[in-house]
Amino acid sequence: MGREGFLIRSAKINGVSAVVITGNEDVGLLYGCFHLLRLMQTGQSLTGVDIRSKPRIQYRLLNHWDNLDGSVERGYAGKSLWKWDELPETIDARYKDYARANASIGINGTVVNNVNANPLFLTADYITKLKALADVFRPYGIRLFVSIRFSSPLRPASDRNSRRGGIGSLETADPLNPDVRRWWKEKAKEIYGSIPDFGGFLVKANSEGMPGPQDYKRSHADGANMLAEALAPHGGIVMWRAFVYDAEVDPDRAKRAHKEFVPLDGQFHANVFVQFKNGPIDFQPREPAHPVFGAMPKTPLMLELQITQEYLGHSKHLVYLAPMWKECLDFDTHAKGHDSYVSRVVDGSLHDYSMTGIAGVANTGSDRNWCGHLFAQANWYAFGRLAWHHDLSSEAMAEEWIRMTLSRNGDVVKTVKSMMMGSREACVNYMTPLGLHHIMQAGFHYGPQPGYARSSRLDWTSVYYHRADSTGLGFDRSSSQSDATSQYFQPWRERFGHIETCPERYLLWFHHVPWDHKMESGRTLWEELCCRYHAGVNYVRLMRQKWAALEGDIDRDIHSHVQEKLATQEKDATIWRDTCLGYFQKFSKMPVSDNN
Ligand code: GCU
Repeated sequence: MGREGFLIRSAKINGVSAVVITGNEDVGLLYGCFHLLRLMQTGQSLTGVDIRSKPRIQYRLLNHWDNLDGSVERGYAGKSLWKWDELPETIDARYKDYARANASIGINGTVVNNVNANPLFLTADYITKLKALADVFRPYGIRLFVSIRFSSPLRPASDRNSRRGGIGSLETADPLNPDVRRWWKEKAKEIYGSIPDFGGFLVKANSEGMPGPQDYKRSHADGANMLAEALAPHGGIVMWRAFVYDAEVDPDRAKRAHKEFVPLDGQFHANVFVQFKNGPIDFQPREPAHPVFGAMPKTPLMLELQITQEYLGHSKHLVYLAPMWKECLDFDTHAKGHDSYVSRVVDGSLHDYSMTGIAGVANTGSDRNWCGHLFAQANWYAFGRLAWHHDLSSEAMAEEWIRMTLSRNGDVVKTVKSMMMGSREACVNYMTPLGLHHIMQAGFHYGPQPGYARSSRLDWTSVYYHRADSTGLGFDRSSSQSDATSQYFQPWRERFGHIETCPERYLLWFHHVPWDHKMESGRTLWEELCCRYHAGVNYVRLMRQKWAALEGDIDRDIHSHVQEKLATQEKDATIWRDTCLGYFQKFSKMPVSDNN
């Protein structure tokens, strides 16, 4: 059963009926207790109960993008949970609630600060604060990690907003410089002196202006390995993020991380994960799986999912994300023939990884209901459950959550589940159907802005991605153009590579498609696009009606909270539809079909 596994079994002890929860270690018992509570809360029979469970993935982490000033990057549920100004003297009661909630869904680690890291987190002052948090989390089986800034050994930058300064006194942060290596070793020792079970570092380097080893003409492996060496004697790990898209690497952003990292396979130390997002761009409502999964057999890859809804309607839209995550986990990469699922890369079984991990960018904040939208709690819940056992179906997890949160009434459960299950596809439809991506409002990432064309970077604009013109729509990534399709294993390379065989959900991701192209439905591309945008809005309208009909069956405050959110969602989905169709129509020059 391993360290964290548990067993729950009904038994007779001295003639008395009992339920036994057991495991090899305390933490297994903790998970077993929570599972028993889940069985009871969801109304399952305990007669003859016989359950064994152990996690498939070793490191199951939340990544908080929380800043020192209490703001949360891409956070939509109020301020940060961490009150740095009060710590370590004052321990907010919510820290414990947070730890308990996470333990109840099997999460065993948390990175408490933003990947765009402030180096002050590594000062003695903040280590004391981190220690106080770690002490609260420990009894719940949760290890604390921090995001570090690669330039930490440098002197502080004179400009407060610079991403490049540090907290040290060195002139360089070159990972091969002996003084820099010593600096990190000493820092690691200092941290472990306060937090003996400290988990390690998460690193965003040479990505979106963050400093990194390439500033010194060193590789990502050089940078990661230096930190890994500092942490290894204490049992810590490095999670090196691969969210890189340097324009010099390739004109197509979707290809860049694969091109930079695959050649480094085999060069990382044993305690280094390379952490990739689920898709090659950036947490869009739908992306094909990242082509790197299966392509780095010698490097443990950690999967990064985003629980906070940066591109999926913030905490205003009801979007149940489990089907999106399952779509990635269930993608068969074909790296080693059939059944080479992303889930098997992540759980280590495909390449025999020595360690395995999954991270979710948290959606929690100081809001009374933790996540802003009550239904966003279901995403936090499902992330933890999936991280424990990726075979769980989206439906089963939704049902558990509904029963524990809203109602055990069969009709209510059925209705709410039906709303949740189609909500992500609806969001894809009213935002970016048929493989469209990255056409949202600049910076804020909430509403639509397909006409966004001027930015300091071409790959931050919308026109770079949708490429609408009089001939058609979509980004040609086939072999005759960007050739991103060649980064996939066969048969995907072929299948994605041709308009005729490319799954329609990714069509405009991989191809520039003529407006009159005949789709599977028999409609033209333009008609299909109209149809999808309408279907998305219609689904939200239907959710609103279904929810309205549950009045009286659900706690009154919760009911009205969700009802208000759904009204906003419908309004905003309509804006997405009308803005995008209005904009694309300028190129298609065809009438927008009316399907209200
Ligand atoms: C996105 C997001 C940023 C974040 C970045 C990352 O680009 O908009 O806020 O910092 O991803 O994952 O590093």
